[in-house]
Amino acid sequence: MRKIQQILFAFLFILHVQGQVTKENKARIIILATGGTIAGSGESSTKSAYTAGKIPIDNLLNAVPEMYKYADIKGEQIAQIGSQDINIETWLKLSNRINQIFENNEADGIVVTHGTDTQEETAYFLSLTINSKKPVVLVGAMRPATAMSQDGNKNLLDAVMVASSPESKEIGVVTAMNEEIFAARDVTKTITTSTATFQSRNFGPIGLIYDGKVSYYYKTLRNPAKKFNIKGLKTLPLVEIVYGYADAKPSAIIAAQNDRAAGIVYAGMGNGNFNASAGKALENASKNGIIVCRSSRTGGGRVTLYNEVDDKALGFIVADDLNPQKARILLMLALTETKDKTIIQDMFFNY
Ligand code: SIN
Repeated sequence: MRKIQQILFAFLFILHVQGQVTKENKARIIILATGGTIAGSGESSTKSAYTAGKIPIDNLLNAVPEMYKYADIKGEQIAQIGSQDINIETWLKLSNRINQIFENNEADGIVVTHGTDTQEETAYFLSLTINSKKPVVLVGAMRPATAMSQDGNKNLLDAVMVASSPESKEIGVVTAMNEEIFAARDVTKTITTSTATFQSRNFGPIGLIYDGKVSYYYKTLRNPAKKFNIKGLKTLPLVEIVYGYADAKPSAIIAAQNDRAAGIVYAGMGNGNFNASAGKALENASKNGIIVCRSSRTGGGRVTLYNEVDDKALGFIVADDLNPQKARILLMLALTETKDKTIIQDMFFNY
């Protein structure tokens, strides 16, 4: 009898220790909610009409109890909006809160729920302003939480797995959706309604999530250790995007100048090209101290310096492979530090 008691005690002791180890090994994840379709609510499970950002964080967490197997999870509501309404103030708030969480060692990783429309912009902004290599995983959904075959719950579970995976320890800011992981600087929304909307046209996904396993294949080298310091900032310098097209008039460039923009990102044709009238207006803007950055409306490839355009003579810089909306973010942040075109161009070739 005594022997049986001893065996039972030993067995219970092992279970207890194992339980502790499992708990201690669980990553601490904070989910910061901002709204979007992942928190969207519609009147019907089969119709496409819905309102983004309706469902609060607690309901999102309750809908995916499977997450707690992988991590100790807390939720915080940062905003409750469609990502079309994300602005610089929300970016600063989000980035400052994430920096604070990591400085205070409150979490091992962070998941940000976010609409897909501007998710790539927020991801890139965070990747340039967060002083930690710890995982920050942005996630969204293409179908609202109330839809039949909604994609949000699975995406959220996958994002938590990415944020808590030992493989992600130094991955920094990524997006995880539709079982694919993308680097913040490379990801872009490519299709208006498909669940496979996130792509990196130039480089593809850096990793995959399947059956509870996170696998990485590549890492971006464009992730400099030095981040922009946004502490105390209330806003960023004004940078406008102007779209290029056949027979474009210079009015949008002149308007940006009149609004005292510090920079213009030109979403040019092909390799960042413009017609004669836009070119004249851009040259004039550059002569007046506005940083003019040529990017491309094509959605892929690089805009190259001094090839089709005499950037030196015109005083322009190029966005390299950043799309216009990401080039705007880098230019706004760069302008918080310097107006030196050589230094800013260097950032575009390294960030
Ligand atoms: C949004 O970006 O908030 C709306 C669209 C989406 O989340 O897919």
